[in-house]
Amino acid sequence: MPKDFIPEYNDVVIAETAEMYKKVSHVIPKEEWASYAPYIYEINKLKKEIGAVILAHNYMTPEIFNCVADYSGDSLQLAQQAAKIDEQIIVQAGVHFMAETSKILSPDKTVLIPDMRAGCSLAESITAADVIALREEYPGVPIVTYVNTSAEVKAESDICCTSSNALAIVESFDSERVLMIPDQYLAANIAKLTSKTILTYAGSCEVHERFTPENIREFREAYPGAVILAHPECPSDVVDEADFAGSTKAMSDYVMDNKPDTVVMVTECSMSDNVSVQNPDVKFVRPCNLCPHMKRINLKNILSCLQNLEHEVFVDPAVAVRAKQAVENMLNVRF
Ligand code: 13P
Ligand code: SF4
Repeated sequence: MPKDFIPEYNDVVIAETAEMYKKVSHVIPKEEWASYAPYIYEINKLKKEIGAVILAHNYMTPEIFNCVADYSGDSLQLAQQAAKIDEQIIVQAGVHFMAETSKILSPDKTVLIPDMRAGCSLAESITAADVIALREEYPGVPIVTYVNTSAEVKAESDICCTSSNALAIVESFDSERVLMIPDQYLAANIAKLTSKTILTYAGSCEVHERFTPENIREFREAYPGAVILAHPECPSDVVDEADFAGSTKAMSDYVMDNKPDTVVMVTECSMSDNVSVQNPDVKFVRPCNLCPHMKRINLKNILSCLQNLEHEVFVDPAVAVRAKQAVENMLNVRF
């Protein structure tokens, strides 16, 4: 296939993607579908030919999440999946730390990310040297590091956590004090749920820190009876105003299990679209913030990544071994 081949919207593509479109038609207008469908068709064909799988985070846009992903989920589910993939090529439709986690767990696989610039404000907020300095400052205090960090930072940590398992990870230690880094808001939200003393760091998610308690009160007033779900990367006064807080998977499960009439998801924009595909009868208010890093991934660069096997993610093997220990310690905690 020639490099930079542009697929067309023809009868074969229309026929082959018709069933898929039915599923997403209430979140993707027909005019937009005409530009997505040729890429969806080519991606699905090519990934089978070359033995690739696409791992997509819940914040991917609906045409990626619903139409080309082989496995989707929150950070924990993607890490669990990366540890047991058979295919040789993994395309990470998510941000760079997620691709690194896949590479750490599957070092023999080729891990590709469609855009190397897909970063994360939390991962940027802390370095390995910072973790070493914290260990010196707090000798003997276990260091729990959010997966939203670089491999080097994970390598200096005792264990990782995600927003799904953070409480269980913190409580898995006997120590009365635990360092939970780098997300100050996740740490503050977990501190309210445990009797342990949680020490933290000054990192934050640029998407979730922008929500305010006033925003939540305004949603309540504008949409009486709506259920408000917030991600624990939000400041804790925002979480206090919400009806439920949890990881992207936990929010999605909440809607699936409770089928509320109207939902406000206080998180990244694509969540509501993706959860609404699985819950077409639930009304979604969309007061979201976009993650500019997640939004760097699109169908065009996924196809290009598969065609050219470009943007491979590497982790220094000496770092990877130590980072893997921290990630595996996390995966071994049952909750
Ligand atoms: P989870 O999907 O693990 O809840 O994390 C949200 C997030 O911000 C990932 O970058
Ligand atoms: Fe990072 Fe926040 Fe974007 Fe997730 S939503 S990738 S935590 S900046």
